[in-house]
Amino acid sequence: MCGIVAYIGEKNCVPILLEGLQRLEYRGYDSAGLALVKDGELGVYKKAGKVAELVRSLDSMNGTLESTLGMGHTRWATHGEPNDVNAHPHWDNSKEIAVIHNGIIENYQAIKTKLLQDGHTFSTATDTEVLAHLIGAMYEKVGDLCSAVRLALSEVDGTYGIVVLSKRHPDRIIAARKGSPIILGVGEGENFVASDAAAIVDHTRQVVYLEDGEVAELTREGFRTMTIDDVRTEKVIEEITFDISQIERGGYEHFMLKEINEQPETIRDAMRGRLLVDEGDVMLGGLQHVMGRLLSARRIIISACGTSWHAGLVGEYIFEQIAKIPTEVEYASEFRYRNPLVNIDDVLFVISQSGETADTLAAMREAKRKGATALGIVNVVGSTIARESDGGVYVHAGPEIGVASTKAFTSQLTVISLIALMLARQRGMTKEDGVALARELESLPEKARQLLKNTEMIKAIAEEFKNAKNFLYLGRGANFPVALEGALKLKEISYIHAEGYPAAEMKHGPIALIDENMPVVFVVPKDAIYEKVISNLEEVRARRGRIIAVANEDDHEIEGLAEFVIRVPRTYGFFGPILNVIPLQLLSYYMAVARGTDVDQPRNLAKSVTVE
Ligand code: F6R
Repeated sequence: MCGIVAYIGEKNCVPILLEGLQRLEYRGYDSAGLALVKDGELGVYKKAGKVAELVRSLDSMNGTLESTLGMGHTRWATHGEPNDVNAHPHWDNSKEIAVIHNGIIENYQAIKTKLLQDGHTFSTATDTEVLAHLIGAMYEKVGDLCSAVRLALSEVDGTYGIVVLSKRHPDRIIAARKGSPIILGVGEGENFVASDAAAIVDHTRQVVYLEDGEVAELTREGFRTMTIDDVRTEKVIEEITFDISQIERGGYEHFMLKEINEQPETIRDAMRGRLLVDEGDVMLGGLQHVMGRLLSARRIIISACGTSWHAGLVGEYIFEQIAKIPTEVEYASEFRYRNPLVNIDDVLFVISQSGETADTLAAMREAKRKGATALGIVNVVGSTIARESDGGVYVHAGPEIGVASTKAFTSQLTVISLIALMLARQRGMTKEDGVALARELESLPEKARQLLKNTEMIKAIAEEFKNAKNFLYLGRGANFPVALEGALKLKEISYIHAEGYPAAEMKHGPIALIDENMPVVFVVPKDAIYEKVISNLEEVRARRGRIIAVANEDDHEIEGLAEFVIRVPRTYGFFGPILNVIPLQLLSYYMAVARGTDVDQPRNLAKSVTVE
């Protein structure tokens, strides 16, 4: 949600900032802007639309822009519609200070009223402009940029990751965070600020993660950090490990397609060094110190948002079926505000690709506050949830750039399966049963590879239904969340209305929608409830609905029942979602391509939702 990048050094920062913004664009892409300090001037250049629009408008200016101090922002609008004026950076009243911001200043109206009384004039509808003016007003009082930022932030409620520049201080950048990630990139004679590592990894791998409530002052030579109350803090410089190729498209037309196709590898990576096949067991370093609490847990609560919440719903089946531990799943946004009954013998797993989702983070903090053990299943290394949880497991899917989550989901399910197997063995599952489950898990990457080879049928279905107005996705048991996820993927990137439903629940309402124009996707593997799902499928057939089935390779019966059949390899019921979701990801992808939508950056969405 909003991308931030800033540079101070000896090089011309304009290309560095623009490349950084392009790498960050998946975080928000409704407008973009730069602020540059040069020769005692502070220039602000901003444009509605994607970063490419900003680049075009800069290209059309006379002369080339150059500066060794600057910052850039790509926006996902919260306050004020996405246009040139509301784009960041924003000036203070004197136009000497500029601010970029990720987050929401909740009390901006009250602050604005006061500043208006003091004679400030505002030209945008944003909360960020108010923060810029407040910093400017503080600067008038104290004459020091870092102190002005600290004082201003002590008056605001809400969340922020910010960067501040002033034309009076061409030798420094001020950055701060509360609730929105900020990292400092440490170089030789140059330093960076970014909202995530992708923006700066071309230039440095040495990073420092700011904590909530910290402020940083960077110069060309170094940096110092402090709290908002001006108490110095000590930071550790960490190394970013990911490869540049992981954040490039690598010959694929879209990141989403690349990430779907990476799944054989990412599922394997989630298990690598953890799954002990011959022992039928699992070793997860990040959970060893909380094993006692996990084993004595009265229940597991899983909390997450969006696709990660769907992974949680599958997790409920996996934990209950394999580890035999009662499990509940909650939307993080609901959990945090309903004063949940949480006990010290509960274990909360939060699932998050980004590790930064505001609602998920708040749910985790709430459970911790109530004494529960809070564990993370997270993709982004060093993210806030990873750092604040009591322990957890990285899913190791690598950077996920496509806004629609794909590979993170199957990696989350793989990690949940590992945790369940580990707990099951500790709670008495025999080695023999453990080995059978471990072997099946080990076979999943190859099965995923097999099914990714057969995309012709999926492309044909996309072509056939590209003009559909509605879709229904049905599944039962662990495949009900797969139906939800299939529907979410379709909505997100092709803008076709789609609903996921438990197949048997359909007759209690959605069946009214079925006619000869309604495509209905059934996830119907040959498992214990196969016959039941087939009965639901017959109910749709009887009403002339158009049936697309995701079915096992050895299911011959289905040919006579469904108009289209997508084949998936067989696996155990509770591991089925890891494979069954992949054709649904591909279906939404090819539908979106056929409809000509922006697959990687669908309208109104953003990766990493760091606002409530
Ligand atoms: C869907 C999608 C979102 C995220 C949700 C949670 O394709 O990407 O629904 O799953 O915003 O994000 P994380 O997992 O980063 O907490």
